[in-house]
Amino acid sequence: MTALPTDQATDLRRMMANHEAAVLPIAKATRTAKVIAVASGKGGVGKTSIAVNLAITLSKRGRRVVLIDADLGTANIDVAMNIHSAHDLSHVIRGERSLDDVAVRVDENLSVIAGASGIAGVADLGAFERQRLLEALGRMERESDVILLDCGAGISQNVLAFAQTAHRLLLVTTPEPTAVADVYALVKVLSRTPITPPIGLVVNCADSAREGRMVSDRVASVAARFLSVAIDDFGQILRDENMPLSIRRRSPLVSLVPRSTAARGVAILADRILSGDNGANPTPGFFRKLFGHFY
Ligand SMILES: Nc1ncnc2c1ncn2[C@@H]1O[C@H](COP(=O)(O)OP(=O)(O)O)[C@@H](O)[C@H]1O
Ligand SMILES: [Mg+2]
Repeated sequence: MTALPTDQATDLRRMMANHEAAVLPIAKATRTAKVIAVASGKGGVGKTSIAVNLAITLSKRGRRVVLIDADLGTANIDVAMNIHSAHDLSHVIRGERSLDDVAVRVDENLSVIAGASGIAGVADLGAFERQRLLEALGRMERESDVILLDCGAGISQNVLAFAQTAHRLLLVTTPEPTAVADVYALVKVLSRTPITPPIGLVVNCADSAREGRMVSDRVASVAARFLSVAIDDFGQILRDENMPLSIRRRSPLVSLVPRSTAARGVAILADRILSGDNGANPTPGFFRKLFGHFY
């Protein structure tokens, strides 16, 4: 992927964001980040693996990335990335810490927010807690280029809320019929909600690119036919034993084995995501929409 004119646009936006922060503190906050929610129908299909490696890849390409473990039920990005953080999203929600306290700076361009353990879901938060999280995350939107949310699996209110309000929803499935059925069920539920974001499907753990494409084509054609939902093929990440190895070593795949098949799959996925990135600010703030507040 060649250097995008986005780099210039990014600088410009950064300057504008700073200017805006100084002059118009809150009322006219303009988003700068593109929010990408990673979700799946079934658990264990590779969401966290993909989110972590995608976040690193995008940050290495100069994007300011914030990776948020939004799986409020079974958060584990901290484990996958070997991050030790005494505090997490739950402390922000409870007002005990600021996001800056909680964000772990992994690299120049990459910050990670560990997941909130012990919180049932965003839908269960009180109005005051929502407002607090909203303000904290809204600030983050203005200070980053990409916010990647590693969502939980399945059709929870939490996943639906995050998914509906993202700019791009990355759905992950494996070729396994159960995973395919569950991802289709998620698309079906999403198709009945007021906002369905553009969906990109990633087939993980395929044994060949051909198998991955077949799965992707099948899901896309059934969703188009029965749900009138367009699903873009966002590529395949092949089954690669380096992926579980990297988890055991507690070192992300793209750093541990950058030339592995799966790491190449992630690089192609990053290309695909950046190819639609023209530096525009497409819609109103994600977190404002999510929490239904204006500030
Ligand atoms: N492309 C792949 N090839 C082989 N194993 C994979 C691949 N992607 C993920 N895995 C393995 O699958 C398991 C579940 O992955 P994880 O990312 O935790 O899924 P999720 O976040 O969807 O629950 C992990 O053991 C991981 O190492
Ligand atoms: Mg996970």
